[in-house]
Amino acid sequence: MDFFLDTADVKEIATGLEWGMCDGVTTNPSLIGAQGKAYLPTVQEIAKLLGDRPVSGEVLATEYDAIMDEAHEIADLADNVVVKVPLTPPGLRAVAALKEEGIPTNVTLCFSANQALLAAKAGAAYISPFVGRVDDVGLPGMDLVEQILAIYENYGADTKVLVASVRHPEHVLRSALMGADVATMPFKVLQQLYKHPLTDVGLERFLADWKKSGGSFR
Ligand code: E4P
Repeated sequence: MDFFLDTADVKEIATGLEWGMCDGVTTNPSLIGAQGKAYLPTVQEIAKLLGDRPVSGEVLATEYDAIMDEAHEIADLADNVVVKVPLTPPGLRAVAALKEEGIPTNVTLCFSANQALLAAKAGAAYISPFVGRVDDVGLPGMDLVEQILAIYENYGADTKVLVASVRHPEHVLRSALMGADVATMPFKVLQQLYKHPLTDVGLERFLADWKKSGGSFR
């Protein structure tokens, strides 16, 4: 399963790359807005940092013609940019048109398996079910991923399942158990994946025992 970082913070992305745990990045208007920087230059800066790994840059427009204009601008930023489009009728119409042009898309704000079916029919490269936001309204977010994977398997869909709105390591674990293609996570969740109390205690004990022994390393 690929690990994407869900962030527009270049420091976090640089660290994820350094750790060898960043296969791509997803951004959205909220994340870029929080950086206080211009929109398109931020997506371009991230694309450059990532080499050939993909970064999703989201359109801000909601009408078809404007979505297409913005999608072209975003796609022109770099070869590794994926255009993120909302799951609406004009959005999916744009997804189909962009596919014809060879421009890959990530369909965002997916909250039902039927929506994911529509996105696959339109030819999306990725579908982003927002599991954390589904959990927030008291429904099981990961059930949505399970349903989408089953439907895509039934029809051999090319669309990749990118689990989004990930809030904790359990979301990542369940995504991997289900066979999702990608989980996009905040940097904090990536850090949490490394942590286990027994690892910390074990390391402390090994080092203390070795120090006590008074032995030499070489
Ligand atoms: C996905 O591409 C979105 O950027 C993101 O996962 C949304 O997560 P949130 O619900 O934590 O805002």
